[in-house]
Amino acid sequence: MPGDKSVSHRSLMLGSIAEGRTRVSGFLAGEDCLATAAAMRSLGVNIEQPGPTEMVIEGVGRHGLCAPQGDLDLGNSGTAMRLMAGLLSGQSFSSVLTGDASLNSRPMSRIIKPLTAMGAAIESDCDGTPPLQVSGGLRLHGIHYDMPVASAQVKSAVLLAGLYADGSTSVTEPAVTRDHTERMLRTMGVAVTSAGGTISLDGGQVLNGREVRVPADLSSATFIILGALISRDADILIENVGVNPTRTGVINILQGMGADISLENPQLLGEEPVADIRVRASQLQGGAVDPALVSLAIDEFPALFVAAAAAKGVTTFTGIGELRVKESDRIAAMASGMRQLGIQVDESDDGAVVHGGRFGGGEVDSFHDHRVAMSFAVAATIADGEVLIRDVDNVDTSFPGFGDCITGIGADIRVVDD
Ligand code: S3P
Repeated sequence: MPGDKSVSHRSLMLGSIAEGRTRVSGFLAGEDCLATAAAMRSLGVNIEQPGPTEMVIEGVGRHGLCAPQGDLDLGNSGTAMRLMAGLLSGQSFSSVLTGDASLNSRPMSRIIKPLTAMGAAIESDCDGTPPLQVSGGLRLHGIHYDMPVASAQVKSAVLLAGLYADGSTSVTEPAVTRDHTERMLRTMGVAVTSAGGTISLDGGQVLNGREVRVPADLSSATFIILGALISRDADILIENVGVNPTRTGVINILQGMGADISLENPQLLGEEPVADIRVRASQLQGGAVDPALVSLAIDEFPALFVAAAAAKGVTTFTGIGELRVKESDRIAAMASGMRQLGIQVDESDDGAVVHGGRFGGGEVDSFHDHRVAMSFAVAATIADGEVLIRDVDNVDTSFPGFGDCITGIGADIRVVDD
């Protein structure tokens, strides 16, 4: 499995503002993380890629970044845009952050609001979308922020700005979100406390470069897990996958639906827990998915929709409104494609009801969303006819090699060029 996207982004950003060298292995060389690497290079950081999944970052320290020559293009990556906005708010120079059509239509007010409260100045389009103009040379001060949405990107943006702020910065999250930023900051020598849903740090702390070993990405592994579960007789082992408890909601949800998934050989890879994941084909059963697990499985719902379609009975998802502002409106994208393939899906503002059934053949649109494209590719493995998925280039943002990987376990997939 390819490396974890969230951890790979953070290794570049934190490694860049650390003192000394950070060596990264298991790095995800997907388009999203390569966009972050290009942005950090534009800010004057020397980043070498000695191997396909290795990066060496010569940290410049918290105040060593330089003004970029042009706009920083973050492609399709919301993580890059939101975390960089926090990081750049504390610099002495101004910068402009932009992205592709999807990223430039995603909501940024969620970071602009707390960062402005810290003393930053960020201009967006009038509807709160990128490009973002981040002013430099402003003095930031610590705040306490009660996050209205459970978002690791917002939490991380505020914490990164907090490194540059006077005093202490804290964030309270309404539900637990992925904690990779906090873990990596700690191993780089920053004191970060987490208690009762509140995470705090003091400004002015120094980061020390170090070795980062990136686990395999559970969000990517999910597509292979799903493929095995809904197959006739698969029994597969996926090695060295990140099983940070802030990410494993998908395993809990699938196990609740009757999936035969077990974790073997658990260990720590640096600050991140990993395990080998054993998956055996299983008859899934529909039911109500616990909304308390949503923030722990936030990227896995497109795949879970497919699991629900392959399950017996009806599956109800609630509290998933955030899916509407991901790389696409994922509730609408999945519902429309699944209906196209003969599955009944009832949508609401922040939920969906998926009726178990049989996928037929047909044509679906990925809406330029990597996880929608991969979910339909897995659905196609059990469809009665051929499935054509439009617009699959974006799979490379998170899972380069997906086609070969799933073909390697028996799927019949071809990429057709228009
Ligand atoms: C991410 C946080 C999540 C997730 C995204 C990666 C991160 O976004 O969907 O793919 O690396 O912090 P939100 O913070 O918008 O929930």
